[in-house]
Parts: sequence; structure tokens; C-alpha cells
Amino acid sequence: MILVGFSGSGKSTVGPLLADRLGVPFVDLDEEIERRAGRSIRAIFETEGELRFRDLETDATRDASLSAGVIAVGGGWMSRPELRDCWPDAIRVWLRVAPETAVRRLGKAIGTRPLLAGEEPNETARALMESRTEDYERAELEVATDDRTPEEVADAVLRGLGNISRRSD
Ligand code: S3P
Repeated sequence: MILVGFSGSGKSTVGPLLADRLGVPFVDLDEEIERRAGRSIRAIFETEGELRFRDLETDATRDASLSAGVIAVGGGWMSRPELRDCWPDAIRVWLRVAPETAVRRLGKAIGTRPLLAGEEPNETARALMESRTEDYERAELEVATDDRTPEEVADAVLRGLGNISRRSD
């Protein structure tokens, strides 16, 4: 399963919980990008720009194996057709979050999100979310996260997955 959604939606927190419950590995694609580049995403954006980050994101996606189990991807991944459609059998789970909740959850860590860092993070997050919502809506499953703990979100994802497989049986 691929966990998609905006920064602050809980992908990196919920992902390990899900992987643990399912007994499969967890891969965080942004961490993988940082590991390979030997520097932070913020540093990549600052020194080489967003386009270079997107190239690294493409490479990391191509090299990742769906058999990894649970894969969390960055907030812009679903807006890139060549990435979002690269695993036709994958179930993409959209962890939905309101922009204000995302900004609140990120707190000081917002500085590590170059596209959100700035004077008006709520405004920026609202505009970015609006431009991406139709891409997130392509996910096979949508799970609300705003008023849920990470454990509750993981429960909802597992329930949703159960419904998907029942429908297709
Ligand atoms: C991005 C979100 C980030 C990271 C990069 C770009 C985006 O990931 O991939 O800063 O385009 O929204 P998170 O969703 O984990 O914050």
C-alpha cells in the first residue's frame, strides 16, 4: 500500500504502525531520498532547487519495490502522473488532513518543508492543498485524519482495505 497525502497528514507516523500490524516492512520515500543524497530535503531544495528534488523522487520511486509493504511518499507525489501510476496494482491510501491541522501538526518542523516555509503557512498550505486535492482524490482509499490519533487512523485504513477486498472478491 502507498500512503499519500499532504505534509502533516501522518504518513510517516501511521506507516510504521500499519507495517507493524501487517508484519511487512515500511519504507519512507523522503527518508530514502535523503539517505541517498546524503543531505536533507531542505538542503536539496536550497542548493539545487525543486526540480532536482523531483528527479531524486523519481529515482527513489523507480528503485522502490512495491513488495516493500507500506510505502509513504511525499506530498507532491500524487501530482506526478509518471509516479502515481507506476504501480498499477498498488492501493493508494489518501490520508486526508485539513491544511490548518497539517500546519499545526508540523509545528516547528514546517521549516523542513520548503514548499510551506514562509510568512503565511496556513495560506500557503490552503492554496497548495487546493491545487492538489483532485490528485489525492485518485487514491483507491480515503481516510480522514483530523480528529483521529495515529492508532485510530491505522484502524480506519485497515477497515477500509478490508472493504476494498470484500468489494472485489
Ligand atoms: C513535498 C512534501 C514533502 C517532501 C518535499 C516536497 C511536497 O514530503 O517530499 O518537501 O511537494 O508537498 P511530506 O509530505 O512528507 O512532508
